[in-house]
Amino acid sequence: MQQPVKIAPSILSADFARLGEEVAAVDKAGADYIHVDVMDGHFVPNITIGPSVVAALRPHSTKIFDVHLMISPVDSYVEAFAKAGADIITIHPEAGPHFHRTLQLIRSLGKKAGLSLNPGTPVDLVENVLDLVDLVLVMSVNPGFGGQKFIKSQLEKIRRLRRMIDATGRQIDLEVDGGINVDTAKEAVAAGADVLVAGTATFTGGPGHYAQNIRALRGDALGGDALEGE
Ligand code: DX5
Ligand code: ZN
Repeated sequence: MQQPVKIAPSILSADFARLGEEVAAVDKAGADYIHVDVMDGHFVPNITIGPSVVAALRPHSTKIFDVHLMISPVDSYVEAFAKAGADIITIHPEAGPHFHRTLQLIRSLGKKAGLSLNPGTPVDLVENVLDLVDLVLVMSVNPGFGGQKFIKSQLEKIRRLRRMIDATGRQIDLEVDGGINVDTAKEAVAAGADVLVAGTATFTGGPGHYAQNIRALRGDALGGDALEGE
């Protein structure tokens, strides 16, 4: 069943020189999850942060740390991110070699497991691991960078996943990542998403705007008006 919309600010768009304060600020501004994008310059063409940064950020928020691993190979790093304080660990099936095994590993560490589908990755890949996932992440851009344009063809993928998830009767987050703004947020939620990752749309305008940015993404009328009025 589709849950009330949760907002997961991607700290990729935060001020990296003040990351701890930025995490605390979005926590206070109403974020549900803190979305941490981990990139290795190999699986994706960008390099971001590792487990020691996640561990350093952990005391700055009590919210769920939603750690998105865009690294390959991935298995050898899962435990380090679990120990660093990740609550949800999401992997890509292409990060190989055996994503069923990686999901089992995440679960064995007592963490929630997520599977992420790139725009070109078929939805059927989830079918045989549905019992092992707590979250399915639909990439609405190709992974690697913030600030890209939402790929509309992914809305159909979200609709299909909504049906697959509902058929399980289990509570599995359906998260969308990339190009989320007030308009695409509405479309993604209408298609069945219940967790929205938002980097640019959360952090635009600096700390004084985070709360209203998050309210606007949630579809709150006041937040929307405030944004439109700017
Ligand atoms: C892209 C990352 C996203 C990205 C989203 O590889 O997984 O989380 O930071 O950024 P926006 O919201 O700016 O598209
Ligand atoms: Zn992400």
